[in-house]
This record gives sequence, C-alpha cells and structure tokens, in this order.
Amino acid sequence: MASSTPHAAAGVLVLLVAAAVCLHGATAQLCEDYYADTCPDAYDIVKQVLIDAHKSDVRIYASLTRLHFHDCFVQGCDGSLLLDGVPGVINSEKGAPANNNSARGFPVVDKVKAALEEACPGVVSCADILALAAEISVELSGGPKWGVLLGRLDSKTANFASASNLPSPFDNLTILEKKFRDVGLHNIDLVTLSGAHTFGRAQCRFVTARLYNFSGTNRPDPTLNSGYRAFLTQRCPQNGNASALNDLDPTTPNIFDKNYYTNLAVNRGFLPSDQELKSSPQAQGVTAPIVDRFATSQDAFFKSFAQSMINMGNIQPLTDPSKGEIRCNCRKVNDS
Ligand code: HEM
Ligand SMILES: *[C@@H]1O[C@H](CO)[C@@H](O)[C@H](O)[C@H]1NC(C)=O
Ligand SMILES: *[C@@H]1O[C@H](CO)[C@@H](O)[C@H](O)[C@H]1NC(C)=O
Ligand SMILES: *[C@@H]1O[C@H](CO)[C@@H](O)[C@H](O)[C@H]1NC(C)=O
Ligand SMILES: *[C@@H]1O[C@H](CO)[C@@H](O)[C@H](O)[C@H]1NC(C)=O
Repeated sequence: MASSTPHAAAGVLVLLVAAAVCLHGATAQLCEDYYADTCPDAYDIVKQVLIDAHKSDVRIYASLTRLHFHDCFVQGCDGSLLLDGVPGVINSEKGAPANNNSARGFPVVDKVKAALEEACPGVVSCADILALAAEISVELSGGPKWGVLLGRLDSKTANFASASNLPSPFDNLTILEKKFRDVGLHNIDLVTLSGAHTFGRAQCRFVTARLYNFSGTNRPDPTLNSGYRAFLTQRCPQNGNASALNDLDPTTPNIFDKNYYTNLAVNRGFLPSDQELKSSPQAQGVTAPIVDRFATSQDAFFKSFAQSMINMGNIQPLTDPSKGEIRCNCRKVNDS
C-alpha cells in the first residue's frame, strides 16, 4: 500500500490546482463544485423555492428557463437582465422588445436570492441562480439533468441595445444562425435550444401574421398545418386580444419532451422562427435533418440539450472580480 501514497498525494495536488484555477484564475473557468464549501446546499435551496412557486404557477419552469437564455445572449451570462432601470444610469433590459410584457419570473428569482442570502450571505451570484433555475426547471418538467457549471459574477451594467438584438420570432434562418454564431453557438445549438419551446406559452401577436397575412400576402402561411391553423384561428381571432396566451406545445404543454420536434415535422410549429428550422428552403440539409433526428429520438435530444445548455451557460462568463460582483439584490448594483 505504501506505493500508492505518492499517487494519492499527486491526486490531492491535482484537485487543489483545479480548485485554484476555478476560483482565482484570471481567465477563470466555471466549475460544478464552485459552491461546495461556501454554499453546499445552493442547489437544494433553489429547487425548493421553484417547487413552491410552481404550486401556484405551472408556467414558472418555462419562464425561468427562458430568463437564462435572455441573460446569456446579452453581454454574456452575468445577470444583466435582472437589473431594474435607474434613470440616467441603468437602461433596463426588461424594457427591450423581447422582454417587455413577455419575460417573467423575476419575483421568483428574488425569492431564490433571499433564500440563498439567508443561508450563505453574499456568496451565490444572480447569474448562477439563473443557470441553476434553468437546469432545475427542465429536470422537474421531465427533461434531462446536467451538471451546472458555476462561478459567474454579476454585472454592474445592463445593455439595452444588445437586448434589443435578441433573436426575434420573425427572424429568418440566416439571421437566427448569425445571432447564435455571434455568441459562439452553432446550428446544432440553435435547433437544440429551440426545443425549449416544448413548454411554456406564447402570445397571439407572434402567430397572427401566419394566420391572416403571411409575408404581406393576405393569405395564411402555407407551411402551417391546416388543422392547427383552424385551432389557432379560434384562439387568436383577427383583431382579437394580441396578448392572449397559447401553449407552445399543445400536445404536452408543461412537459419537457421531444414533442416540439414531432410538431415541427407535421407543420405544427407555433412561432415563425420554429417552423423556419424545419421548413424554410435554407433549412434543407442544414437544420431540418437535426429536427428530424430529434423527432425520432428523445434520447438524442436530451443529450444534445444538456450539452447546448452548458455551451450557452459558457457565453462570456463574467469572472473578473474587478468587473463583477455578487449582488445582494438581483435587481440592483451593490452600493447604488
Ligand atoms: C431561436 C431563437 C428564439 C426565438 C426567436 C424565441 C422566441 C420566443 C418567443 C417569441 C416566445 C413567446 C414570448 C411571449 O409570447 O411573450 C418564447 C417563449 C419561450 N422561449 Fe423562446 N425563443 C428562442 C429561443 C429560445 C431558447 C434558446 C430558449 C431556452 C433555452 C427558449 C425558451 C423559451 C421558453 C421556455 C418560452 C416560454 C416562456 C414562458 O412561458 O414564460 N427560447 N420564445
Ligand atoms: C413596455 O411596454 C409598455 C406597455 O405595456 C410601454 O408603455 C413601455 O413604453 C414599453 N417599454 C419600453 C422601454 O419600450
Ligand atoms: C433574411 O432576412 C434578412 C434581413 O431581413 C434579409 O436581408 C435576407 O434576404 C433574408 N434571407 C432570406 C433567405 O430570406
Ligand atoms: C398585410 O401585410 C402587408 C405588408 O405587411 C400590409 O401592407 C397589409 O396592409 C396587410 N393587410 C392587412 C389586411 O392587414
Ligand atoms: C388579453 O389576454 C391577456 C392574457 O391572457 C389578459 O391578461 C388580458 O386581460 C386580456 N385582455 C383583454 C382585453 O381581454
């Protein structure tokens, strides 16, 4: 057994070096066990708040998953989305078109933050809360699990202009591909992450053009399944309530499964940007085959989703303590 001692010692040394890189490196990497010593129950604390919130809001898991996306695509995963406006100082991203009257779940993020501050004050960042909440939300909805990488700091700024450039449901495939490429993500991530539209709701305003006046033709979108069109026409009458809500996946509205892709396969995508991934001329041989693969294999989708969420969570993580902080209140920069 004596001969194993040097190996064991070397193993300990490797672990220490890995932790040091994770915690203090100038180009610090995120890591799964970032809060292992400082807030070991962080994951369970977030989970409990989410389970409680879900009792009165079945949509909350979808809403929280979307917040992580809208945070990461705008100057990286840094909690910038969560800052409220301060006149002349912070132009809140919450007012940008993709978020205004649309992004939701902020009071639940506040509850998570309060619970974490109670257990381990000043330790867990708001950006990491969004990453944890997304994983827990997907898992609790029947989707895949993955090891969430942690160690992000929170920004002291918001970026309204960048938030105004978030992917739009009216973007064509070329633009969607570019917006993902611009944050270091590929077509596989675009198709995979769009699969999050397997749960949650969307307003009528995003589908009315497809129902009544597609591309200014005064005709419906020809790529819209006629039965689904009849159904949506009832729910979203022309000149009706543009804010009325619809299930993004009418087959299993609150379950995280592969039905987003089986819907697209039969022209039952809700958003124009959803059906674009399968039906546009540009999608053939590019994104459409990925849709087809996930429509036939939930396992393939789940594995890809876990990887793409890690990829998205790695967009420009803010880890430099001279630029970021652990906010005490997710809505405000500290000492402001
Ligand atoms: C590919 C580009 C994307 C576009 C154009 C897009 C657009 C939209 C739109 C327009 C809505 C409905 C909002 C409303 O009616 O108020 C929505 C909802 C949603 N999106 Fe996306 N999205 C995209 C990608 C993603 C990604 C990457 C995720 C997460 C990984 C995501 C997760 C969700 C979820 C879960 C909902 C439902 C939210 C709720 O019920 O509160 N989306 N998206
Ligand atoms: C957000 O929407 C409201 C209407 O609900 C509007 O009054 C407000 O100006 C919008 N905010 C921004 C920043 O455009
Ligand atoms: C996609 O949209 C952009 C911007 O509106 C436009 O310039 C481009 O021609 C469109 N591409 C296709 C293939 O429709
Ligand atoms: C249909 O869309 C076109 C172009 O966006 C617009 O000029 C036209 O007025 C619309 N028709 C109706 C009936 O709203
Ligand atoms: C439109 O629908 C939204 C969402 O369901 C609802 O909150 C609002 O009260 C509705 N507005 C009208 C005028 O019915």
